[in-house]
Parts: sequence; C-alpha cells; structure tokens
Amino acid sequence: MYGTGSRVFRAPGRVNLIGEHTDYNDGFVMPAAIGFYTWVAAARRTDNILEIYSDHLDEKVTLCLDDLAGPPRSHWSDYIRGAAASLQDAGHKLSGANLAIHGEVPLGAGLSSSASLEVATALALASVSEVELPRLELVKLCQAAEHEYVGTRCGIMDQFVACFGVSGHALMLDCRSLDYELLAMSVDHSLVVCNSLVRHELASGEYNQRRADCEKGVKLLQAHLPGVGALRDVGIEELEGYRHLLPEQVYRRCRHVITENRRVQEAAKCLRSGDPVGFGQLMYQSHNSLRDDFEVSCKELDLLVEIASTSDGVYGARMTGGGFGGCTVNLVHASCIADFSSHIAKSYQQKTGIVLDVYVCEPAQGAGPWPPDGSQ
Ligand code: GLA
Repeated sequence: MYGTGSRVFRAPGRVNLIGEHTDYNDGFVMPAAIGFYTWVAAARRTDNILEIYSDHLDEKVTLCLDDLAGPPRSHWSDYIRGAAASLQDAGHKLSGANLAIHGEVPLGAGLSSSASLEVATALALASVSEVELPRLELVKLCQAAEHEYVGTRCGIMDQFVACFGVSGHALMLDCRSLDYELLAMSVDHSLVVCNSLVRHELASGEYNQRRADCEKGVKLLQAHLPGVGALRDVGIEELEGYRHLLPEQVYRRCRHVITENRRVQEAAKCLRSGDPVGFGQLMYQSHNSLRDDFEVSCKELDLLVEIASTSDGVYGARMTGGGFGGCTVNLVHASCIADFSSHIAKSYQQKTGIVLDVYVCEPAQGAGPWPPDGSQ
C-alpha cells in the first residue's frame, strides 16, 4: 500500500489459565500465548511522521513523532502512539515509519489484543529505527504505554507473555521478580476458549477501581504489618486477623488476590505432576472467587462456566482476562473437544440468543520478526 518493501513483526494474544488480577499485586500468573497474532509491516520514512493503516477498520492515521504527548484519546491509535511515545520517553530515537496493521486477536474479548498491538508496534518501530531493545525493556515500555497513553493501569502479564511465550507451554510468572517457568501442556487435553461476545462498557474504569481497592487494602494492612509491600506478602491468616480494619469490599478484594496466588502455585504443581483434575478444580475455585469476591464476572460468563461444569470431558473452566465480559477458558480432554464445543454453543444460544465463538487454542510462540529467521 505504500509502494515499498517492509519488515514484518507479529505478537500474539494470550489466554490466562489461572492467576487473575494478581499481576499488579506482585503475585503469580499463568498465561499462555495463543495462535492469534497482530501483524505489523513497517518501512522507514525519512521524516518524523508515522502513517498507520489498520486493515480491520480500513482507517489511516497520521502521527508526528514530535507531538505524541497527551492524555488518552480513546482511539485505537493510542496503542501505537503509546508504544512510540514510551520508546521515545525512554530515550530511544525513532525514525518516521509507514505501518500497516492486521489483527487476528478478537477485540474486546479479554485475549489481550491491546498488548499484542503494542508489542508488535514497538518491535517494528525499534527495528526500522535501528534501536536495540532488550526484551524485558520492551515489555515494560509497552506496559507504560498502556498506563499513560491508553489509561488502563494494567499489570505486566499480557505484555510479558506476548514477548516470552513459548509454543506448547504455559508460562508461570512471578510478577515481582519477573522470574518465570515454562510448563509443558499435555497433548491429552486442550484449552478451549469460549467468547461470550459480551463486552461491558466502563471496563477500564472498573479495572482501575479494583486496583485501587487492592492498594487501599495494602495501605490499611501496612499499619500493622510494616513488612508488607503488596498483597503478595499477606497470608490468608493475617488477612483474617486484620479483617476488622478493612471495609468489607476491600477485604473481599484482598481475599481474592491472596487465595488466587495460592491457587496459581497449586496449579503449577498439578501441571508438573500431570494432574488435570486437580488443575480443573482450581479453575472453578478461581472463577467463584472472581465472581463473588472480586466481582469482575458477569452473568454470561457465569453461565458458560456452569454449562462447562456439567459437560463431559471438562476438567475445569473459568473466566479469563480482566473480566466484565469476554471469554472463559476450559480445560477439556482431547477426545471431547468437538462434542463440548457444539454442546456449549447450543446451550448458550438457547439461554442468551447469542451465537458463541469457540477457539481451540494450543499455546503458541511469542512475538518476533516474520519470518522468524529474519530472511525477509
Ligand atoms: C488485564 C490486564 C492484566 C491483568 C488482567 C487480569 O488483562 O492487562 O495486566 O491484570 O487484566 O488478570
């Protein structure tokens, strides 16, 4: 479309197996990259202009590299503006570029289309500008892009797994140390993602509100537990002991995070020892906690989990991602995938009138140039 050659980069969406709303509490998460990618083709320009075309929206936007500052504009180009601005804010000198974007990650489904767009854009801009960027720095700059230019105070999970995901593996990440362990997923069962196609407005405001509740809990607990830097440091007995200090809602938010951190660690043990039944039970517990204590589920997601829980070959199910709509993730025995997919689609449609999207997801490879050997 620009009449020149280009370099191509891609970054995947993700599904989170367990560990929700724990990342910004210095806790544990267990996402996997999925085989839906955002693709960015980029060519260097000689001026300081970014010209960006989205084929999904058939829309072109022009940004000037000298004029990227400013609050969120509630437009898809905020992700591009944010990625470029964060690189520049960190002192990297960017050149202008023509970009063409093609996205496969379903939008607004809680599968992290945003992080995949930020990461693919940052890789492309760094490459055409001849900027060497260590992976971890890229992750952090993309997270900063989301905070400052999109307005969601997200944790680090999505950008991290978009960069460090490995095919066939889930990734257990310690969001404080940023150490991670790759956990092989057995081919005997698969991740089936059900997109409720429900998207609640105000989700970003609610997200920031949940984070603020957690921070309030930490602040109140710190008066008695000075060693606590984040909810990661609080044991469930300690929380119960100081329950009277916390407003009821803050207490429940904290209880979710603290119990969810424990579930992620238990779930990792189940994967290591090949125990899908145990893993599945933890998924259900996680869902209940997100529904009752953290209050980020919705009736459609609850319904999907309920249908899954009575379906053959399903070990476990839960909502995945930030919540307020989006998807559930189901751990399903390989031999039951087809039956489960048609059964849940049918039941969901009967009860809601909505035609479900079902994706069978194998854990995929993280972001990089395309083709991977750099022979473009
Ligand atoms: C969104 C955020 C993540 C994480 C999840 C909830 O996807 O981007 O950082 O907080 O919600 O687990």
